[in-house]
Order: sequence, then C-alpha cells, then structure tokens
Amino acid sequence: MKKAIVVYYSRKGSNKYLAQKIANSLGCDIEEIRPRLNVFLLYLMNMHLGIKPLKHSINEYEKVILCGPIWMGKFIPPLRSFVKKYDSKIRKLIFVTCCGSTDAQKNEKFGHGLVFEEVKSTLNSKCVLCQAFPIGIVLPEGKKDDTDAFMKTHLNDENFKGEIQERFDAFIKKTLEV
Ligand SMILES: Cc1cc2nc3c(=O)[nH]c(=O)nc-3n(C[C@H](O)[C@H](O)[C@H](O)COP(=O)(O)O)c2cc1C
Repeated sequence: MKKAIVVYYSRKGSNKYLAQKIANSLGCDIEEIRPRLNVFLLYLMNMHLGIKPLKHSINEYEKVILCGPIWMGKFIPPLRSFVKKYDSKIRKLIFVTCCGSTDAQKNEKFGHGLVFEEVKSTLNSKCVLCQAFPIGIVLPEGKKDDTDAFMKTHLNDENFKGEIQERFDAFIKKTLEV
C-alpha cells in the first residue's frame, strides 16, 4: 500500500502551493480535484456540482491529505464532493487549509474551526488531523487582520518562511505520526 496522496482544490493558488509543498516533503502523489462545472458563484451558494473521476485510485493509499480553501465558513463544494464520492475508499484523511481566518478567529462564524468540526463529523474517526495555515501568518504586523491585505496575498516561495515554515514542518511531522 502507498503511504499518502495529496488531493487539492485551489482557486487563487495558495492551496495549490501548499499541496505541492506537502507532496514534495512527503515524496508522495498529488492530484487536483477537477469540478464538473467550475462556477465560483454557484459554490458560494453552496451548490454541489460534482467532480470528474480522479486518475489515482484512492483505496491504494494509507492517507489522503485533502487541501483547499474555506469560503463563507463552509467546507467548500469541490472538497465536499470529493469526500462524498470517495468516502468508502478513504482509509485516513488529513484536512489542510490555507484560509483567511486566524487561530483566534477559528470558532467564529467564518472560522476554520467550524469547518474542521464538519469534516470530522462527516468522516468520523477516519479524519485523523486538521491543520490551518491562515494567510495572515505571512503578512506583516498590523496587516494580519486586514481583510483586504489577506485577499490579495497568496503563498509563494518569497513569503513561505519563518512562522509559516515552522508550522509546516510541525505539520509534516504530525502527518507522519498519525
Ligand atoms: C469569497 C471568499 C470567501 C472567503 N471566506 C472565508 C471564510 O469564511 N473563512 C476563511 O477562513 N477564509 C475565507 N476566505 C479566504 C480564503 O480561504 C483564502 O483566501 C484562501 O487562501 C484561498 O485559497 P486559494 O488561493 O487556494 O484559492 C474567503 C475567500 C473568498 C474569496
């Protein structure tokens, strides 16, 4: 059995960057989720449009690392469609997000904590770890809670250093333990 696969969806590139970094660190396979119809407005209305079949066989992997953004406090449709379609083939799932909400905001209406609860309740004991990489971490002091600044910021080799790199290294370590 293969160790892990990273499956991701990204609109503006931060979660793609993060997914590729995870796959490089673990030396594992990676695949992008391809929605059948990629219409952002419908996603914001929380509509399920389904996804195209993956090229990799999910049941061949010990762990699936699912990576994607959070919008309007929701476990977004492309990620939800993946879980719905492949639930019976997933052994263990790790959910990772590069999102806007900070650690302090995680339990607020649009916080990642509520999405983590939804992922855990959807997958029960198969969800073994959830990890957030709030984009504010890479912003300078004073801009960390600035919505306009975080909307315009995307992860890249320039800003992926310091605190976010430390969080990433700790995450990779945990990923190998669960
Ligand atoms: C319309 C919209 C709604 C968003 N809503 C949330 C939210 O409710 N909670 C959150 O933590 N981040 C939210 N974000 C921030 C995104 O999760 C963040 O920008 C993410 O890094 C985008 O990922 P991507 O670059 O892979 O597309 C929102 C972003 C957009 C564009």
